[in-house]
Amino acid sequence: MASKAKLKTVYFCTECGCESAKWSGQCPSCGAWNTMTEHEVSSGLRSKEKRAAGYEAAAPLGLKEISSGDEKRISSGISEFDRVLGGGIVPGSLTLVGGDPGIGKSTLLLQVCRELSLNGVGVLYVSGEESPSQIKMRAGRLGDFGDSLKLLCETDLTAVSNVMREMNPAVAVIDSIQTMYNEDVQGTPGAVSQVRESTAVLLRLAKTGGAAVFIVGHVTKEGMVAGPRMLEHMVDTVLYFEGDRHASYRVLRGVKNRFGSTNEIGVFEMQEKGLSEVKNPSEYLLEGRPENASGTVTSCTMEGTRPLLLEIQALVCQTSFGIPRRQASGADTGRVNLLMAVLEKRLGLHMGGCDAYVNVAGGMRITEPAVDLAIALSIVSSFMNIPAGDRIMAVGEVGLSGEVRSVNRIEQRVAEAANMGYEECMLPGVCMQRLKDIKAGNIKLIPVDSVKDAVDYLKKRR
Ligand code: TYD
Ligand code: MG
Repeated sequence: MASKAKLKTVYFCTECGCESAKWSGQCPSCGAWNTMTEHEVSSGLRSKEKRAAGYEAAAPLGLKEISSGDEKRISSGISEFDRVLGGGIVPGSLTLVGGDPGIGKSTLLLQVCRELSLNGVGVLYVSGEESPSQIKMRAGRLGDFGDSLKLLCETDLTAVSNVMREMNPAVAVIDSIQTMYNEDVQGTPGAVSQVRESTAVLLRLAKTGGAAVFIVGHVTKEGMVAGPRMLEHMVDTVLYFEGDRHASYRVLRGVKNRFGSTNEIGVFEMQEKGLSEVKNPSEYLLEGRPENASGTVTSCTMEGTRPLLLEIQALVCQTSFGIPRRQASGADTGRVNLLMAVLEKRLGLHMGGCDAYVNVAGGMRITEPAVDLAIALSIVSSFMNIPAGDRIMAVGEVGLSGEVRSVNRIEQRVAEAANMGYEECMLPGVCMQRLKDIKAGNIKLIPVDSVKDAVDYLKKRR
């Protein structure tokens, strides 16, 4: 161990990781109560000596003096994973992979290690959670591995750093950051101070050694106790792995990326032999759709640069309680209430005595207003009992006067619907201009200016 650094007492918020020199009942940053906890940290870490040890003193540079940053990316061999990273793994980068326990983070990263090792890329997989035999069992389900993969079961970060310096792998995985322990820092593994300092050490290792480092972080239910959220600003890339634990599909979502666009998603399915890529998520999400039923309308949402078709379902029925229930899963309940208010006022539909349930099939969560029109139509379709039809896709944002407003990337959405064999596409009238020169297969475009137009169309077609 290095010479004992001076210790100083600081307070960290367990919710957001905010650091403060003084204790207070309320976190000065996120406003949570009773979350400031006391930790001793070595004040040396921020001192000049230590910084000098890790970093070169920086000198100002002209842009021309800096060698170009388009370094060669390493392909992970899993195209969905590469896409979310912005086209492959960037050497010297630090990436956080967050997600609920048990969602498949270790499986995903071990699969990435597998592909890399099969291509002869040097990989170090550090696990603080599982024993070598447990990892071997998991690896056995995933298939053969190459020889360039090395496993290390260790929680002491100093030991991990030493191995990394010695082995100098191109890619390293730390599973998980909450199990890593740095003896220079006070607190048990998983404590805010430990997680932060361990990440700082790994960041330095990545930047100086040139390895691409992936750290796994568990997100806990109640806030993010010592969780990955507070690390987001320290790392280069943040990926969240999410999905319904009971459904088999998983979405890898980029929420921060210094080397590519954010909001890209990769879709996977958890199977017996690990995760497999879902190349056509629209097909997957639309699987098992009821035919010619009322209360279901297909819409298209953009996830990053990728259009995704999904089914919006609504059930509107007479309430058996005093106060009607409004519930939405996968969509915002407030938005559903607003759309129902628009329908009542602009179309004169009296749904005041009705319960309404809206569901985005497949367990996707959508926040994009472009699905408003489909939500509104599914509600009307269920309320009036008119099937909207299986072969129609609807996009458009609905305003408070019932007008249908423009959405971005309409060309891509229409093309995706055409690809998936849809015959009709209902879209904002104002978007027609942009589609003038585009041949979207045989799909019939139905421009609408208001929700009323859209509902009239469905009624007329019946
Ligand atoms: P895991 O990667 O251990 O989750 P995390 O690291 O995010 O905590 O995933 C565990 C789940 O995945 C577990 O419930 C078993 C399941 N699983 C499969 O269904 N198929 C497989 O091939 C593997 C390896 C795991
Ligand atoms: Mg794990």
